[in-house]
Amino acid sequence: MTWSVMIFIRDKCFCLISLLGICAARPPYIGHISPGFVTSQMDWANQGGRFLVSNNSAFALGFATAQVDASSSVLIVTHVNSSTNAWTANRGRLISNSAKFVFNASGDVYLEDKSSMVWRTNTKGKKATRMMLQDSGNLVLIGDEDKVLWQSFSHPTDTLLPGQEFKEGMRLRSFPNSNNLSLYLEIKSGDLVLYAGFQTPQTYWSIKNDVRRTNKNITGQVHSVSLLSNSWNFYDQSESLLWQFIFSASSSPGDFWAAILGQDGSITFNNLHGNGSPANSVRIPQHTCEVPEYCNPYSMCYFGGRCQCLPTLISQPGCRPPPPSSCSQSNDRVDLLSVGEKLDYFALPYSTPTLKSNLNACTAACRSNCSCNVLFYERSSGNCFLFDEIGGYRSPIPRSAGFVSYVKIIRGSVSKGGSRKRKLAVLTVSITIASIAILAILTYIGIRCNHKRKKLVKSYSQENLEDEDFFENLSGLPTRFRYVDLCQVTKNFSTKVGQGGFGSVYLGMLPNGTVLAIKKLEAIGQGKKEFWVEVSTIGSIHHVHLVKLKGFCAEGPHRLLVYEYLPNGSLDRWIFRNSGKEGTSVLDWNTRFSIAVGIAKGLAYLHDECEGKIVHCDIKPQNILLDENFVAKVSDFGLAKLMSRKDSLVYTTLRGTRGYLAPEWITNNPISEKSDVYSYGMVLLEIIGGRKNYDSEECSEKVYFASYAVKMLEQGRANEIVDPDMEFDGNDKRVITSIGVAIWCIQEEMFLRPSMIKVVQMLEGLCDVPEPPISIPSSSRPKSSGGECTPVEHSDTNSTAFLSAVHLSGPR
Ligand SMILES: *[C@@H]1O[C@H](CO)[C@@H](O)[C@H](O)[C@H]1NC(C)=O
Ligand SMILES: *[C@@H]1O[C@H](CO)[C@@H](O)[C@H](O)[C@H]1NC(C)=O
Ligand SMILES: *[C@@H]1O[C@H](CO)[C@@H](O)[C@H](O)[C@H]1NC(C)=O
Ligand SMILES: *[C@@H]1O[C@H](CO)[C@@H](O)[C@H](O)[C@H]1NC(C)=O
Ligand SMILES: *[C@@H]1O[C@H](CO)[C@@H](O)[C@H](O)[C@H]1NC(C)=O
Ligand SMILES: *[C@@H]1O[C@H](CO)[C@@H](O)[C@H](O)[C@H]1NC(C)=O
Repeated sequence: MTWSVMIFIRDKCFCLISLLGICAARPPYIGHISPGFVTSQMDWANQGGRFLVSNNSAFALGFATAQVDASSSVLIVTHVNSSTNAWTANRGRLISNSAKFVFNASGDVYLEDKSSMVWRTNTKGKKATRMMLQDSGNLVLIGDEDKVLWQSFSHPTDTLLPGQEFKEGMRLRSFPNSNNLSLYLEIKSGDLVLYAGFQTPQTYWSIKNDVRRTNKNITGQVHSVSLLSNSWNFYDQSESLLWQFIFSASSSPGDFWAAILGQDGSITFNNLHGNGSPANSVRIPQHTCEVPEYCNPYSMCYFGGRCQCLPTLISQPGCRPPPPSSCSQSNDRVDLLSVGEKLDYFALPYSTPTLKSNLNACTAACRSNCSCNVLFYERSSGNCFLFDEIGGYRSPIPRSAGFVSYVKIIRGSVSKGGSRKRKLAVLTVSITIASIAILAILTYIGIRCNHKRKKLVKSYSQENLEDEDFFENLSGLPTRFRYVDLCQVTKNFSTKVGQGGFGSVYLGMLPNGTVLAIKKLEAIGQGKKEFWVEVSTIGSIHHVHLVKLKGFCAEGPHRLLVYEYLPNGSLDRWIFRNSGKEGTSVLDWNTRFSIAVGIAKGLAYLHDECEGKIVHCDIKPQNILLDENFVAKVSDFGLAKLMSRKDSLVYTTLRGTRGYLAPEWITNNPISEKSDVYSYGMVLLEIIGGRKNYDSEECSEKVYFASYAVKMLEQGRANEIVDPDMEFDGNDKRVITSIGVAIWCIQEEMFLRPSMIKVVQMLEGLCDVPEPPISIPSSSRPKSSGGECTPVEHSDTNSTAFLSAVHLSGPR
C-alpha cells in the first residue's frame, strides 16, 4: 500500500521528501553549469522552468510554455524583470514536457525529445568546460583556454540586446503571422534590410533609405550593427562608425534597450528596465502601412492603419484572387483583372522593374510568365513590375498618381464559382416558393382554427399597412433597404471602417460596384415613423459639401443609414501631427484652405439654404470626410434630432465633443446655429495649426491653441500659429484671413460670431474681415503668466475654458 503510493507519487514527478516538507525546491544554478548536466522541465516546475540564472539575476535560462501550444515548451533565455524572451533555442520545433536538456561530457549541448534531436550547439568533440549565462544575456559555451565555442548572441531569434553584435550572415526572423509569413532582418550587400519571406523575398525597409539615420552624407557598406545605449550603430568592415539610428531622446545609464522584430514585421525598441513594452513610438519602418501584411494580402492599407477590401476584389472569397492552380494553363484561360489605378506597394521602391514599356507590353509579359501573378505599372515612367505573390496594397502618398495593378485569374476557377452561384440561386428560389406555399397553408389553417389568433394576425398586418401608407406619403425618402440586403452588401458587417458618436460604420458594396458606408445607429430613442421623418429630411438634402444619404433601413430594432463612401476618410487623419499618416505628406495650404471653405459652405447650406434650419451640433474633424480629390463633405448632419432628449445631460455628453463645444452648452443660453459656428472656428484653427485645440502635451502657453493663437495674433506673430510642418507663402493673405475668421467664430458671446454665410464670404474675399476683438474674455485663457514654456499645473486649468474642454465632454 505505502509502496504503491510512493510509486504513484514518483510517477507524478513529485519529490517525496519535499512533499514531507523536509527539502525545499531546488534553486536554479547561478552563473554557469558544467558538463554532465541533464535535466527536464519537471525538475524545475517550482522555478517556472528556469534552471540557470545570470550572476546579476537579470537573465534566466529555462523551459517556458510555448506561445502557440500550451502543452509544449521552448527553451529560452528570459529577461526576468520585463518577462522579455531574449533568445529561443527551438522556435518552431516545440518539445514535450519530458524533453531533456543535455550538456554531455563530450561537449555537446542539445535538446532531445522522445529520442529525437530537436536542437543542438553542434560542438560535439570540442571539449567544452562550462556553459555560462552572462550578465548581458549571452549564453556562452566555453572550451579550453576560455575559448568561446558557441554563443547565443551569434544565433539570434527576433531580439537584439545591448552589446550584441549583429553581423553579416546572421538574421532575425519574426514569429510567423496568421498567414504563415515571416519577416527577416539581415545584412545584404552592405545594407541592413527588412524583407518579407515570400518565395521570392521582398524588401520593405533598408537603413540606406531611412532618412532618420545620422551622418547621411557618409556612404559605406554595413558590416555589423549593435545597440549602444539609446542608439543603433552601424559599422563598416574596418569597424568604423557609419551611421547611428537614435531611437530615444534620453540616454539614462539605467536604461536597457532591446530591439525586437515583431510579428507584424516592424522593429520596436523596448526599454527592458521599464515594463518591457515599446517605450516610445519610434519604429522601423515608422508607418503602419509600410510593413508587408499589416492588412491581409491584396487588401488595402490606408493611412492610420485602416484595412479595406478593394472594391474590385470584394466579390472574391477572402478579398483576394483564387490561388493560381497550375502554371501550365493555356494562355487563353488566363485573365488579368484590373484591381485599381491609384495603388502602391511596399516592395516597389526596392525592386527593379522587370521591363520598361507601355501597359500592353506589361500585361503581355505577365500573361506569358508562369510565375507572374500580380503586376504593377506606373504610367509616368513606364516601369512594369512583376511579382509572384504580394502582401497588402497601400494607398500612394498624396497627390502621386500611384500604380496600376492587375492580378492574374484563371478563368476556369471563376466561372465554376459562377455556376455554383446559379445553382444556389435556383435552390434559394425553390426554397422560397416552397416556404411561401407552406406559410400560406399554415396561415389558412390558423385563420380557420383560431379566431383570437386571426384577430392578432389582422391587427399586426393592419399596423404594417398603415406604416406603408405613411411611408408612401413621405416625399424625398431615399432608397429603403431590407436588413438582409444590407447584411449581404456588408458581408455581415465584417469590415468596420469607423466608429462615431451614433454608432459604427461598415463598408459595403452593391452588386453594381458602388461602394457604401453603412452606419448602424445605436442609442436611437425613437419610433419608426419619427425615424422616417428625419430620414426623409436628411435624404432630401443634396449639396456638394454634405455627405449624401443614399438609403436607410428601419426594420424591427435595426436603424441603419446608407451613405456614399469617401475614400480619404476623415479630416483628423490628415491634419493632426502624429496621427499615423503615411510618409511625410502634409496637406498643403491650398488643400487646407479649400477644405475650410468647403466645410463652411456645407454648414451655411444646412443653416440657411435648405428647408428647415438644421443645426449640426457635432462639428469636429472626425465628422468632416474627404473624397478622392480632398473635397470636404460634412457628415452626420441631422442626426442630433434623432437622439432621445429625455435626459439633456446625457444628450450633451453624448453629442458635443471635448474642445469643440460652444460655451452655451454649459450656460443656459439656447443652442443655435451659432453653436456650430463656434465649433467650426475651432476646427478651422486646427486646420491652420495642424494640431488639436487642446493638447496637454504642449507647454503651458500652448495647451489651449485658441488662446495661444489670439495671443500670437495680438503680438503680430501670426506665423507662429501656422502648422510648422506646412510650407506656405508668407504673402498669402488667405492665411491671415482664415486666422481672423477663426477667432471671430470662437467668440464666447454668440451674437459676436458671424453666420456661416458671412464666414464663406470672408474666406472667399467677398467681404473684409474686421479686426477681431483681441481682448478675448480672460476666462477662456489659462491663468498661466505666459512667456515661459513650463509644464501645465493642474491648478492652472481651473478656467471655464478648461471646463468646457474637459468636464463637459464626460464619458464618450
Ligand atoms: C528587478 O525588479 C526589482 C523590483 O522591481 C528590483 O529590485 C531589481 O533590482 C530588478 N532586477 C534587475 C536585475 O534589474
Ligand atoms: C554526447 O552526445 C553526443 C550526441 O550529441 C553523443 O554522440 C556522444 O556520445 C555523447 N557523449 C557522451 C560522453 O555521452
Ligand atoms: C559569476 O560570478 C563568479 C564569481 O564572482 C565569477 O567567477 C563568474 O565568472 C561569473 N559568471 C559570469 C557568467 O559572469
Ligand atoms: C510555414 O512556412 C514555412 C516556411 O516559411 C514552411 O516550412 C511551413 O511548412 C509552413 N507551415 C504551414 C502550416 O504552412
Ligand atoms: C558630413 O557632414 C558633416 C556636417 O554636416 C561634416 O562635419 C562632415 O565632415 C561631413 N562628412 C563627410 C564625409 O562629408
Ligand atoms: C516572371 O515573373 C517573375 C515574377 O513573378 C519575375 O521575377 C521574372 O523576372 C519574370 N520573368 C520574365 C522573363 O519576365
